[in-house]
Amino acid sequence: MTGGVRFATRAVPNKEPIVKRVDISSYGIPEEVARCVDVPDVGRPAAGEVIFDVLAFPINPADVMFCRGAYRIKPPLPATPGAECVGRVVVVGEGVSYVSPGDLVINLQRENWAQRRRVKESDIVRLPAGIDLRQAAMVRINPPTALLMLTDFVDLKPRDWVLQNAANSAVGKLVIRLAKMRGLRTINVVRREESFAELKALGADVCLVDGPDLAASVASAAGGAPVTLALDAVAGEATGRLAAALADGGTVCNYGAMAATGNGVNIPYSELIYRGIKVTGFMLGRGLAGRSLSDIRKLYDEIAVQVQAGALQAPVEAVYPIDDIAAALMHAQRGARSGKILVTPNGMV
Ligand SMILES: NC(=O)c1ccc[n+]([C@@H]2O[C@H](COP(=O)([O-])OP(=O)(O)OC[C@H]3O[C@@H](n4cnc5c(N)ncnc54)[C@H](OP(=O)(O)O)[C@@H]3O)[C@@H](O)[C@H]2O)c1
Repeated sequence: MTGGVRFATRAVPNKEPIVKRVDISSYGIPEEVARCVDVPDVGRPAAGEVIFDVLAFPINPADVMFCRGAYRIKPPLPATPGAECVGRVVVVGEGVSYVSPGDLVINLQRENWAQRRRVKESDIVRLPAGIDLRQAAMVRINPPTALLMLTDFVDLKPRDWVLQNAANSAVGKLVIRLAKMRGLRTINVVRREESFAELKALGADVCLVDGPDLAASVASAAGGAPVTLALDAVAGEATGRLAAALADGGTVCNYGAMAATGNGVNIPYSELIYRGIKVTGFMLGRGLAGRSLSDIRKLYDEIAVQVQAGALQAPVEAVYPIDDIAAALMHAQRGARSGKILVTPNGMV
């Protein structure tokens, strides 16, 4: 959806304009601790600042962990969650030349579960006009995560195999699409067979249900060809099952802990000592940290082109208004979803 500049603030007679924001006042069960509150508007932009209305944000597993106090960042309370969003620029401060009012943007910083944000120009990435707003809301985190995990760890050549679990997650589906574009083949491990058809339609070469026989199933599916990279979003025992399915010297890259079995990835030492399996981890912040702002913006430009072309998409299961943040959070924590849960703080997009 495109359109003119919109103003989210509500004027209350004799009072400062207010906007809505999600605050958590304690760390705990997300739907119990997250509240939509009225707060003063963000004010005028200082030099080098950009103000944008938040049009949509997804609820990601990391946001749920943030509310629970289980994420790596645990700021003093009250705190506003929200690792990503898409917004439309309302006004820019002196000296800002990268964006203008009306432009669509994503924010490289957090605290995005709000109607309006005031940020530095250097934290903004412009998106093309006309991009689907729901997809744009999910551009910031999962697409570069999938892309950089395929490029930053193992030098993969066309027809090489990549193994991944949680393959029906938003990241997993992006891995399938991006791998296909690179001529790579994917072995996709899930916990529900009913997701096979969707993954096959996206280009998955092989789909398997996780279990104790995973290594044998992978070997048979790959026809004995070495599998050198495994992407692990589950952790716990699941990481060990991926490691066992890799060729000697292969790399397991852990990037999530959906199994929520504590802090560990469980890999028998024999995999490390006897077979030289390497274990590493990916975090988008670290992945981007070594890149310049212009390279980061270029990376997102390329992703946006693929999103606009329909080549990279994340299905959406439901969209909620910001006042219904508790219901949205409950929905986002359900298993077996068909897609992401989005929130649209300034009206439906
Ligand atoms: N490190 C990074 O920088 C980074 C960046 C982005 C994402 N991530 C991580 O990537 C993972 C996926 O994120 P997403 O946004 O793509 O997720 P998502 O679309 O919300 O999907 C969640 C996935 O997790 C699966 N799942 C849930 N509980 C599970 C369990 N106990 N055992 C096995 N699988 C389980 C779900 O399977 P069902 O469909 O069967 O319920 C679904 O496939 C998360 O762990 C997230 O934190 C990390």
